[in-house]
Amino acid sequence: MQVIIDSTAKCVNQAAERFSALLRRKPDAVLGLATGSTPEALYGKLIEQYKAGIISFKKVTTFNLDEYVGLNGDHPQSYRRFMQEKLFDHVDIDLKQTHVPDGVHTTPENAADYDKMIEAAGGIDLLLLGIGNNGHIGFNEPGSSFDALTHIVDLNESTRQANARFFASINEVPKQAVTMGIHTIMQARSIILMAFGAGKSQAIAGAVTGPVSADVPASVLRLHPDVTMFVDDGAATDIKV
Ligand code: GLP
Repeated sequence: MQVIIDSTAKCVNQAAERFSALLRRKPDAVLGLATGSTPEALYGKLIEQYKAGIISFKKVTTFNLDEYVGLNGDHPQSYRRFMQEKLFDHVDIDLKQTHVPDGVHTTPENAADYDKMIEAAGGIDLLLLGIGNNGHIGFNEPGSSFDALTHIVDLNESTRQANARFFASINEVPKQAVTMGIHTIMQARSIILMAFGAGKSQAIAGAVTGPVSADVPASVLRLHPDVTMFVDDGAATDIKV
């Protein structure tokens, strides 16, 4: 695993360049995408590059990591809506080629069909991850099995609190989500994780220097052959070298 520590802006630029280089080399790439505050600036860079004619999304296929259970794609806080607003509506992507887990129709029995769709598309070339304050990736909370495929999870109270800022009140934050499992994530050929701000420093320290353990789900990434973490100065403060 490669850990790059730099300013937030330089982390964003370098991560965006990795996506851009992939799209120039492989215009029909399969991307894994994340939501949250962290990837927003990166999506902004990709939109700029599209508008400048440097990259196109015409042949790209995307699979998002997760979605809240109970929110349909029109709900303002749904991750489908986030992706439309932050990326898809601004580039030439074919919406039929964009996939976000279905927060309304997914059941424990059919959730892993998402993995079959990823496989049918040829697997994910490059997957983008953020990290939760508690070390979660996607919505794989501490204690999650490393063998899990896409499944429905109960959200930790701390995760609901952290994400309450996007909702009118904590009561509106869904209690469950559909998420790619850790096995699904580890199947991606290449992974980028971005972490910004001091609030992520404990999770990053655990992921980078602690034991590989389900207690810090992101630590599993150390077992993957091609992971780059872009960590800004704030998020790097607890890494002890
Ligand atoms: C949510 C998402 C994660 C994301 C995390 C961090 O819980 N399910 O995929 O990485 O939030 O979000 P942010 O980037 O807003 O800190």
